[in-house]
Amino acid sequence: MSIIETPVHLRHLTLKNRVIRSAVHSFLPDDAGRMTEAEYAMYETLARGGIGTLITGHCCVDPRGRANRNQVNIYDDTFAAQFTRATAIAHAAGATFIPQISHAGPRAIDQDDLADVVARPLKKGRHARALTIEEIHAIEQKFIAAAVRLQRAGCDGVQLHAAHSYLLSRFLDPTFNQRTDDYGGSVEGRFRIVREIIEGIHAACGEDFPVLVKINLDTKDEDHDGYHDAMVTMLRAFHQLGVELVELSGVDFINQPRDATLYYLAEGERLKAAVPEQAMSLVGGVRSLTDMERVLGAGFELVSLGRALIAEPEFLGKALAGGEGSICISCCRCFVLPEMHKGYRCVWQWKAARAKAHAEKAATQQA
Ligand SMILES: Cc1cc2nc3c(=O)[nH]c(=O)nc-3n(C[C@H](O)[C@H](O)[C@H](O)COP(=O)(O)O)c2cc1C
Repeated sequence: MSIIETPVHLRHLTLKNRVIRSAVHSFLPDDAGRMTEAEYAMYETLARGGIGTLITGHCCVDPRGRANRNQVNIYDDTFAAQFTRATAIAHAAGATFIPQISHAGPRAIDQDDLADVVARPLKKGRHARALTIEEIHAIEQKFIAAAVRLQRAGCDGVQLHAAHSYLLSRFLDPTFNQRTDDYGGSVEGRFRIVREIIEGIHAACGEDFPVLVKINLDTKDEDHDGYHDAMVTMLRAFHQLGVELVELSGVDFINQPRDATLYYLAEGERLKAAVPEQAMSLVGGVRSLTDMERVLGAGFELVSLGRALIAEPEFLGKALAGGEGSICISCCRCFVLPEMHKGYRCVWQWKAARAKAHAEKAATQQA
């Protein structure tokens, strides 16, 4: 039996195994921000395929912070019931269900008035103004209100999306955050918005409602040592705040060489060794059973998969049965293909469907 099949006890959650489906925007929800039957079916397949913990794609806490048109929303009560159904589907197959909550910041769609941590020019001649303190407080309340809704909906916890240059990660990272007020400057200042959201969720939902965080372990800032030290400070703070699990990701997974695997492991291992008391998972380039076991062997309590499960939702069973590694070639076409060919999420699935359609057409013509 592999170590990845063993249960793990965190502060409040007992997870049936060590494998997390990392947050992945599926492109399957409808334009009104609601899960479709295809989205529910995806969760059922993942849970039945043995994944212990399902984290949803980023769900939007504020209508002014939507990253995608077909993104699941949770910015008012009308969006809550869909999470009850998805949680029940996951639970029926023994999986834990954690929605990821997010604000897109200056990457928001359909907004003329864009705001960022600080004022800055954006692509296509656009410009973001700096968020006011009142707006920061209002955004904190949106995250807290979303968590309250999700707790009432029966979800097992929430994950804050503080990675990949969405709004919360922009506060944490000095590349983006040059504020000179309470929400910038020192590590403590940059961390303040995340701290206040976690404290607010605990105050509103109870200390025992699990709060997870996804965060970049690296930066595009030149001061890598400084960022490492800041990460250690933040990870210790997460532990003090009672964070259930920190999932370590990075700024540049999209630009890694296609054959690269476990590209965050070296820095991840350093951080885990520096803050062993904080439960952590690592995501990025995990493509085989050996990769998963290496992450756990480095001290992580859990390991997270993104694209391997887009390409093959039942990848875990294959890996445990001694199968080859993932068919994912990290081409990242999963970011564009679903918009071009509705219902398909990986180029391999689309190619297989097209080959089948061609074969059926040829058979019909011959008959
Ligand atoms: C199509 C796609 C959508 C993604 N959506 C999200 C998301 O909603 N939230 C998030 O935190 N990460 C998202 N990610 C990043 C993944 O969770 C993961 O961190 C990244 O793909 C690296 O892991 P991997 O090599 O296992 O794919 C997405 C990745 C892809 C490819």
